[in-house]
This record gives sequence, structure tokens and C-alpha cells, in this order.
Amino acid sequence: MINLDKQKLPRHIAVIMDGNGRWAKMHTIGRILGHKKGAEAVRTTVRTCREIGIKYLTLFAFSVENWSRPSEEIDALMSLLEEYLDKETNELNKQGIRLRTIGNIGSLYKTVRDKLDNSIKMTAGNEGMILNLALSYGARDEIIEGVKKITQEAQQGKIRPEDITKEKFGNYLYTKAMPDPDLLIRTSGEYRISNFLLWQMAYTEFYFTDVLWPDFGKKELLKAIAEYQNRERRFGLTSEQLQKNISANAKI
Ligand code: IPE
Ligand code: IPE
Ligand code: MG
Repeated sequence: MINLDKQKLPRHIAVIMDGNGRWAKMHTIGRILGHKKGAEAVRTTVRTCREIGIKYLTLFAFSVENWSRPSEEIDALMSLLEEYLDKETNELNKQGIRLRTIGNIGSLYKTVRDKLDNSIKMTAGNEGMILNLALSYGARDEIIEGVKKITQEAQQGKIRPEDITKEKFGNYLYTKAMPDPDLLIRTSGEYRISNFLLWQMAYTEFYFTDVLWPDFGKKELLKAIAEYQNRERRFGLTSEQLQKNISANAKI
């Protein structure tokens, strides 16, 4: 049994759900069935995060680069997403989970967009956890879009270039009003971030596991969080400074 420290939970967990294709190959079935199994792992992770009290969960479900995959695979991924929304929206409501998306949502199929809009509307009043799906997401596109918006506003005189700060720039990104991820999990033994949340992960703790996404269950998730809780997040300070801050706060 893995015991977690409730006081030290990551507020925001981001996950690169990788390895569905290799899982399928290992089981000598088609890639699409691997994605289907991956969708089950999504359900488990969402439920578990809500149970433990995580406030934000961002799942990388489809990248801008994934549009270059075979069209049958893209179609299957989109159908699985529609199926997930059809089946899970009630469940999200029951669990108090609010759905959000980040990415170039306009590039998704209309049928998918409609279902997303509907689920977002249906879950808008929930405050237990935000489930944030990254769809057609690319971090460099996100940053460029933000730069374009902010320069337009500067040209219109709405913002002065000298007033642009890190905090303000964050409001021009898809993730505005969300805290940065505290913990990033990537499954399947790949050690890269594949154009995911480049701006937001400046100080995120990274956890990599060889487990393939369809096999990533509750135990694996708790293991990742437990490891996160053992890390010392220094944000550029020395360990001694941190200890001093902790004891100073304890006195207040
Ligand atoms: C992750 O699994 C799902 C998506 C990227 C949509 P993959 O499909 O990338 O699985 P591998 O990397 O081929 O094993
Ligand atoms: C990253 O996985 C994207 C998602 C999990 C949706 P990929 O399998 O596409 O990543 P790379 O291309 O191998 O880095
Ligand atoms: Mg992959």
C-alpha cells in the first residue's frame, strides 16, 4: 500500500500517455485496439486523481504532430474520443469534474468539436477537479499564437511592450488561469517532452516510467506521486534556504 502525504499533493499533474502502439504490438493486436485499451487507462487515471484530491489533470491525448499518422489511425483516435465523451460525461458530472481543452480545437472534426462543446457546457459548474484534454496541441504553436495576440494588442495600444511580464504572457496561452504542472508523467520509456507545455513546465518535476500507457493503473499513478513527494523543489534556491523558509513558515 502506498501512503501519500495529503499536504504535499501536486496541484496539477500532466501526463504524456505514450505506448499504446507498442502495447498492441506486444499483444499481437492492431494499434487501434491499443488505443482502445489506452482509453480505459484514462478512465482509471481520471477517477484516481479525483479520489486523491488532485485539482488539475492535463492529459496529452493528441499532438499537432500526430496529424501526420495514417488517416485510419487518426479517425480511430477521434472516434474513441467521441465515445469517451458520450460515455463519460455523466460520470464526470457525478464525480464533480469539469472538462476543459487546450490546443488547436478548431482543427478537430466538427463532430468531435460539437461533443466537446457539449461536455464542456454540461460540466461547467463542477469544482472538484479540472480535466484538461490536450487535443491537436503543440507547445510551439501555442507560444507563437500567444506572441501574435500580444503583439496585435501592443499595436492597438492595449498593452505596452515594457509592461509584458512572465505572468501576463501566461494569460495569452491556452492554459491561462491554470497553475503550471507540478508533476509530469511520461509512460513507455521515452525521455522527451514532444512539444508539450514547453512554457508551463519550466519548474515541473519529471517522472518517467517504462510502463506502457494501457498498463498504467492506480498503483503506477500512486508510485509516481509518491516519488514526487520525495523530491526537493528548490526553484533555484539552496537546500539550506528552503529549510530555513520551512521553519520560518512553521513559526507563523
Ligand atoms: C500514445 O501511444 C497515443 C497517442 C500518441 C495518440 P502511441 O500511439 O504513440 O504508442 P507508441 O508510441 O506507438 O507505442
Ligand atoms: C506524444 O506521443 C503525444 C501524445 C501522447 C498524444 P508521441 O508518441 O506522438 O510522441 P513522439 O513523437 O514519439 O515523441
Ligand atoms: Mg508514441
